[in-house]
Amino acid sequence: MGGIVLLIGGYGQLGTAIRRRWTGAQIVAPPRDELDIENGESVRRAFERYRPALVVNCAAFHDVDRCEREPERAFAVNAYAVRALTHRCAEFDAAFVTISTDYVFDGRAARPYTESDAEHPLSAYAASKLAGEAAARMGGRVYVVRTCGVYGHAEHRDKPSFIDRVVARAAAGERVTISPEIVASPTFAGHLADALRSLAETGNYGLYHAVNEGPVSWFDFAAEAMRQAGVSAKPVPGSAPVRSGAAARPQYSALDCTKLARLGIRLRIWQEGIRDYLAERAVPAGGLFLDAEVSRSSAP
Ligand SMILES: NC(=O)c1ccc[n+]([C@@H]2O[C@H](COP(=O)([O-])OP(=O)(O)OC[C@H]3O[C@@H](n4cnc5c(N)ncnc54)[C@H](OP(=O)(O)O)[C@@H]3O)[C@@H](O)[C@H]2O)c1
Repeated sequence: MGGIVLLIGGYGQLGTAIRRRWTGAQIVAPPRDELDIENGESVRRAFERYRPALVVNCAAFHDVDRCEREPERAFAVNAYAVRALTHRCAEFDAAFVTISTDYVFDGRAARPYTESDAEHPLSAYAASKLAGEAAARMGGRVYVVRTCGVYGHAEHRDKPSFIDRVVARAAAGERVTISPEIVASPTFAGHLADALRSLAETGNYGLYHAVNEGPVSWFDFAAEAMRQAGVSAKPVPGSAPVRSGAAARPQYSALDCTKLARLGIRLRIWQEGIRDYLAERAVPAGGLFLDAEVSRSSAP
C-alpha cells in the first residue's frame, strides 16, 4: 500500500485494530483534538499536511440511544462530516474507506442481508449512517463498508466490550440474561481490519458487507464467549427490560458477505473472532505495535 494512510477515529476499537495490524503501512492517526471531523478547518489542515493516498474513517457518533435524543449531532458526525470527507478525498485524489452499519436494515429479513436489499432505518443513528453512505457513494474512489457488532480493544477507552462484560459478570457469579431472539453478525475488529486492508488494495470501489461469518444470536455468542474464556456458568435466556427513550433496533441484522468473498476476501467464522479477541487480550501492552509504522502526529 503506497502513500500515507490518514486514519480517523484511530483510537477506537476498529481504529486501534488497524493501527496494530496494517503492518508496513504508513499510517498517520491524528488524535481527535487535532482532527475532529465535525470541524471542517481541522479536516482541511490534516489533508494539506499529510496529503494522504488513502483516508480511512472509523469515527462515528454511535451511541444509538444518545443519537435518538441528539439527531442533529448524529447527522453532523455520521452524515455531513462524511460528505465533507468525501469532497476532500476527491480534491486531494485520495481513496476513501468509511464504515457503516447493519442498523440500516429493519430486521424483518429471514436470511442475511445483501448489499442490494432495501434499507429501512429504525433510528436516528441508522438514518444518519445511511445518509453518510449516500454522501460517500457520490465520491469516485470510495469503499463504504457495513459491519455489525464490532468488538475489539480500543486504546483510548476503558469501556469493556460485550465479551468482557458477560465474562466478568458470569465469573463474579452474577446471572447473565440475554435474548436468544436477537440475531446478528458480531465481528472482531482485528478480522475486520485485515479485510479492510485487503479490500483497499483491490481498487474495486463500492458498497460492501464485512462481518465474521455466520449469523448468531447474542445468546449463543455470549455462551460461546463464556465457554472459551473458561467460565463454567451459562447465560440465561430472557429479555432485558426496555429502557424508556431507547432507540429501536433491528431484531435480525446478520449480513451476507458474498460480494466481498468474490474478491477473495473472507472473514473467519464468529467463533474464531472470539478466540482471536481473547488471545489478543493476553498480549502485553505495546507488544503488537513493534513492526507497524505508526506515527501519532502532534498538532502543526
Ligand atoms: N461498535 C459497533 O458495534 C459497530 C457496529 C456497526 C458499525 N459500527 C461502525 O464501525 C465504525 C467504528 O466503530 P468502533 O466500534 O471502532 O467505534 P469506537 O470504538 O467508538 O471508535 C470511534 C472513534 O471515533 C472517534 N470520534 C468520534 N467522533 C469523532 C469526531 N467528530 N472526530 C474525530 N474522531 C471522532 C472516537 O473518539 P473518542 O474516543 O474521543 O470518542 C473514537 O476514537 C463506526 O463507523 C461505527 O458506526 C460499529
